[in-house]
Amino acid sequence: MAAIRYDAAAAEAYRRAREIPRDGLTAWRAAIGASARLAPGMTVLDVGAGTGAFATAFRDWYGVRVLAVEPADAMRALVPADDRIEVVAGRAESLPLPDGCADAAWLGSVLHHLADLDAAAHELRRVLRPGGRVLVRNAFPGRCSRDLRVRFFPETAAGIDDYPGVERVCAAFAAAGFTRLSLESLPQQNAPTLAEFADRIRRDADSKLASLGDARFEAGMARLRSAAAADPAAPATSWMDLLVLG
Ligand SMILES: C[S@@+](CC[C@H](N)C(=O)[O-])C[C@H]1O[C@@H](n2cnc3c(N)ncnc32)[C@H](O)[C@@H]1O
Repeated sequence: MAAIRYDAAAAEAYRRAREIPRDGLTAWRAAIGASARLAPGMTVLDVGAGTGAFATAFRDWYGVRVLAVEPADAMRALVPADDRIEVVAGRAESLPLPDGCADAAWLGSVLHHLADLDAAAHELRRVLRPGGRVLVRNAFPGRCSRDLRVRFFPETAAGIDDYPGVERVCAAFAAAGFTRLSLESLPQQNAPTLAEFADRIRRDADSKLASLGDARFEAGMARLRSAAAADPAAPATSWMDLLVLG
């Protein structure tokens, strides 16, 4: 699958096209709150923080401090740093952080970008305090049929087949001392309607869509526009997995 190079244009496209509106994440807020055992003042590590959409959500939802680790300069530049969001240049495989500095870690749509999953799992064990949980939000092979992109662009499922699977991820984390605690699919509302979702789609912001040829991309857009016209009030609901390890 074509990798996205997160330069300034791609970072801005990501911010505009891929960040989920905060009010579309109600189920995620509840599920994270139930499983992460967060309290105000704790520190959450956001690994592969991108433009900071989840860093700001964690700060606002749970009153925590966030260490937002992100390798791409252009993505980091868009993270709204403040007294509770510290932005750090770095990669999951070699975190530039001291031992035991965080109470939980969040990896949002980043697993499939990692060059070395095993090294990342060991780094997370090192920087998390005992009992700290790792929350992984990702598409997994064989579990992505309710992803809106897969629904309208079915060829994207083949790309997700190359992502690390649930068992592979759990094995990497088990070797680093983590146990699988839960796995659930959660809904998110990408846009109020399918038409608005279609308007927001940017191929250059999404490695799955960027990999499609023109004909397949246009065919998917036609399917999406047709579904939007058939049911104008239908919300653009997509599903992704939350895997919790601890
Ligand atoms: C699809 S974006 C997700 C951004 C954000 N977590 C979100 O959910 O909006 C993937 C991010 O992972 C970052 N990334 C790529 N390789 C990485 C690595 N080895 N360690 C940490 N982050 C990485 C990319 O630069 C990019 O910002």
